[in-house]
Amino acid sequence: MTRQLHPLEINPKTGEPFLRLPAPHQNIILTPPREGDQSINMHHMNDPAIHKWLEGPPVPYLPEHADSWFQFVKGQSDATLGYLRKSEENFPDGPLQFVDACPVRYLREVKENGTDVLIGDLCLRRSPMEEVLDEVERKRLEEENAKKQAGDPTIQYAVGDWLAASHHGRSIMTAAVGLFMSAWAIPRMGARHVVAYTFAENIGSIRVFEKNGFVNKGLLDNGKMVRGEKKTLTHLEWKHDQDA
Ligand SMILES: CC(C)(COP(=O)(O)OP(=O)(O)OC[C@H]1O[C@@H](n2cnc3c(N)ncnc32)[C@H](O)[C@@H]1OP(=O)(O)O)[C@@H](O)C(=O)NCCC(=O)NCCS
Repeated sequence: MTRQLHPLEINPKTGEPFLRLPAPHQNIILTPPREGDQSINMHHMNDPAIHKWLEGPPVPYLPEHADSWFQFVKGQSDATLGYLRKSEENFPDGPLQFVDACPVRYLREVKENGTDVLIGDLCLRRSPMEEVLDEVERKRLEEENAKKQAGDPTIQYAVGDWLAASHHGRSIMTAAVGLFMSAWAIPRMGARHVVAYTFAENIGSIRVFEKNGFVNKGLLDNGKMVRGEKKTLTHLEWKHDQDA
């Protein structure tokens, strides 16, 4: 029984849960992290076409970074799946339980022979509240937001994503964000307020969010420095009510 995993599908051969992108990208699925992802992840994090737009990953990205990141994302996915499987026993007829992460996040392209290749990542996390310009107030609100219970409609989430450079510009991330929001973030995380922060010049990323109903709130400067460079951010915001 996997009712609490709804709407994830289950791979009948491996038992792995997944979400499939709609046509014309039905050969791309979102899955949990897998042992062995570290080296391909390290390859993409060392690609300037990707890391120049990201704040988090260290540059250069070393095997130990890939390992500790893998432990983190795998741990989070396992914990979410574990909780949902337990909920199956605890609430056999009960409502679907809210969680505060998505157990499937890695984009994989499925080849004709059935093998697949890791091509990207997409996740929601508790927001770092970048739009709050005062540093002390930002920290306070970030901590307050982080403490809220899964499913609390006042939680502010933030999206993070990257796609292999070989796959840029084919509308893949636009489709993935749409699926992620409608299939998981809204129904299973109860997400009602989601933001994205892009580096100001990241037109492709801004468009991905705008095409998914995020409102471009403009530029913000909270003094952010990334790898020694000052960064102005574009703030994008989606609220559930605006779609109602
Ligand atoms: C940002 C990123 C995820 C976009 O994914 P993608 O699948 O290539 O984007 P899409 O193909 O869905 O494109 C969405 C829109 O952006 C436009 N676009 C994409 N890349 C662009 C670029 N480099 N410059 C200008 N426009 C771009 C597309 O034309 C499309 O707009 P349109 O429909 O109006 O023509 C991808 O480029 C990437 O991984 N970049 C590096 C990491 C990164 O920036 N992550 C986001 C951090 S906030």
